[in-house]
Amino acid sequence: MSAPKKLFIKTYGCQMNVYDSERMAEALGGEGYVETKSPDDADMILLNTCHIREKAAEKVYSELGRFKGLKAEKPDLKIGVAGCVAQAEGQEIMRRQPLVDLVVGPQSYHRLPEMEAKAREGEKVLDTDFPEEDKFEKLKNRPKAKRGPTAFLTVQEGCDKFCAFCVVPYTRGAEVSRPVDRILREAQDLVERGVREITLLGQNVNAYHGAGANGDMTLAQLIWELDKVDGLERIRFTTSHPNDMQDDLIEAHGTCAKLMPYLHLPVQAGSDKILKRMNRAHTAESYLRLIERIRAARPDILISGDFIVGFPEETEADFQATLDLVEEVKYGTAYSFKYSTRPGTPAAERPQVDPKEADDRLQRLQALLTKQQREVQDSMVGRDVTVLFEKAGRFPGQMVGKSDYLHAVHVADCDRAIGDLARVRILSSGANSLAGALID
Ligand code: SAH
Ligand code: SF4
Ligand code: F3S
Repeated sequence: MSAPKKLFIKTYGCQMNVYDSERMAEALGGEGYVETKSPDDADMILLNTCHIREKAAEKVYSELGRFKGLKAEKPDLKIGVAGCVAQAEGQEIMRRQPLVDLVVGPQSYHRLPEMEAKAREGEKVLDTDFPEEDKFEKLKNRPKAKRGPTAFLTVQEGCDKFCAFCVVPYTRGAEVSRPVDRILREAQDLVERGVREITLLGQNVNAYHGAGANGDMTLAQLIWELDKVDGLERIRFTTSHPNDMQDDLIEAHGTCAKLMPYLHLPVQAGSDKILKRMNRAHTAESYLRLIERIRAARPDILISGDFIVGFPEETEADFQATLDLVEEVKYGTAYSFKYSTRPGTPAAERPQVDPKEADDRLQRLQALLTKQQREVQDSMVGRDVTVLFEKAGRFPGQMVGKSDYLHAVHVADCDRAIGDLARVRILSSGANSLAGALID
């Protein structure tokens, strides 16, 4: 038997890209590839790209340029570009960078084995179609390797919301939900391979409406189906849109023990004028009332968010409204970004905010969010949480895992194994993690 070929994948962007990279590795595993951590000994290099902010494409070109020497040494090396930059600029990449053998958009990963074979024969291959078939179903033939205790599982993809700043509806296409039975089969398979916690992924995951035995199911109904899977201990989902936060999902946060008390619910801005121009279709007030209802169902839930500052025509007063909203919600964690122009999106054509002003606002917002994040983390001290252990710590006998609230927790003198769950009393709060001790 010939030596296995080596595959190096570099992943950028969101968790869905992480999931997709795993699926691509499995698809090429069927063609005799094993993964390597270094591009230097690879027979195939895949960049799984993200297009969400500016300069994404430029980064891809400079990354590709760095492989020039490698390719000169190893003419058989194949180089591919996948992900959202591939979808948005596939033709351009092929034209501009002759090192690239293969361009594959996020909807075409199941065609990767055929594409790889063609590339091996010296063809240049590009596939950025939006085909009808379920790509994940086609990607099933994979080895049953053991895996770590946490996993992502894509249940919904694409977005019909068309926020005025965002490329996702163009790169990932229209909203599509996977059928319930396939998700359950995949979850079962993950559990058999050692997974204890599954994060359900979708660009608009709470708009999930996949086909079930008796018609379409909501995300909450899907979560209740997953709740029945023995050995699966924890369920999370991301990312949600405020307008799709249905009653049954809010209720599940109060009643489903496997559903973790953590919710990523981006609001983007606190000014109604800006929200309207962003095409978010909700107001600051409706978002705040929604948070209230969620907290009524699950008082200890940790809320996470995304923010954009410096959106076209944002004034200081508009920005102040964002700070006010943040003060009111009290976020346990958050991601904040300076608006960046995405060509082809409606906001790209509008009057832009002075970049210095935007930088200043971003700093002020991040200072507030960091303070809140720290306060929420510190408030865990003295409380008992459940920790799912994910790896050994830096010190002998120490283990590291995540609490129900997704805080990293270090536990000394810990005789538990990776994949175990244990009750832990939180003793102290550090810069980015908590420390605790096992409760017998
Ligand atoms: N579907 C998810 C995630 C979208 S991308 C959602 O609706 O929340 C993740 C985050 O990137 C967004 O929430 C937004 O805060 C940020 N983002 C998207 N486009 C952006 C842009 N053009 N400039 C700056 N930030 C952007
Ligand atoms: Fe982008 Fe808005 Fe869709 Fe999220 S909801 S993916 S921000 S268009
Ligand atoms: Fe980036 Fe595409 Fe995800 S643009 S954030 S990789 S959906």
